[in-house]
Amino acid sequence: MPSTADRMDIFQGDITTLAVDAIVNAANESLLGGYGVDGAIHRAAGPRLLEECRALGGCRTGDAKITRAYDLPAKRVIHTVGPVWRGGDLDEDALLASCYRRSMGLAVEHGLETVAFPAISTGVYRFPKARAARIAVREVARSLEAHPSIAVVTFVAFSASDYEIYEREVSRVFHRP
Ligand code: APR
Repeated sequence: MPSTADRMDIFQGDITTLAVDAIVNAANESLLGGYGVDGAIHRAAGPRLLEECRALGGCRTGDAKITRAYDLPAKRVIHTVGPVWRGGDLDEDALLASCYRRSMGLAVEHGLETVAFPAISTGVYRFPKARAARIAVREVARSLEAHPSIAVVTFVAFSASDYEIYEREVSRVFHRP
């Protein structure tokens, strides 16, 4: 069994290009699309994704729901709603952790083995990037340890600086050289 650290990957680029079992969308509670990664995923998946999302009746912050991926190379899309950063005293950390936990839970439930996450809440929702990366790596590591069925989780960074934040956090946690 590969180590937990070996089951984590970091990729710099556009999450919509990844042919993994599931990509995770940083959505809003309506699930009716938006900007950032939400906009990119809906543009790449095509209009049928929005049709399916309409039938889901929204998603609470910290929760996640799964759909098909239509024209995307991935097989499924897991839509999760991260918290808006409001200074850190309104359960933002716990809600962000819940996004990763619930998304990983759906991947396990649906027998998905490879999952790619964007940096949830760190764009429009203004969650501090390094703080978010610490929560992301911690929660994904816990899920990987609990669920051997997940082979690889990829953290997708949209910029070189975001890539470095993930690399620093994974190295810190796993003392990777
Ligand atoms: N691939 C990977 N990462 C991306 C992409 C992409 N194509 N586009 C943006 N990102 C990155 C951003 O750089 C940021 O690091 O995804 C991270 C999350 O940023 P947002 O997409 O703004 O998501 P978030 O901060 O969670 O805000 C969600 O924005 O688009 C709306 O409908 C969405 O209301 C919701 C809110």
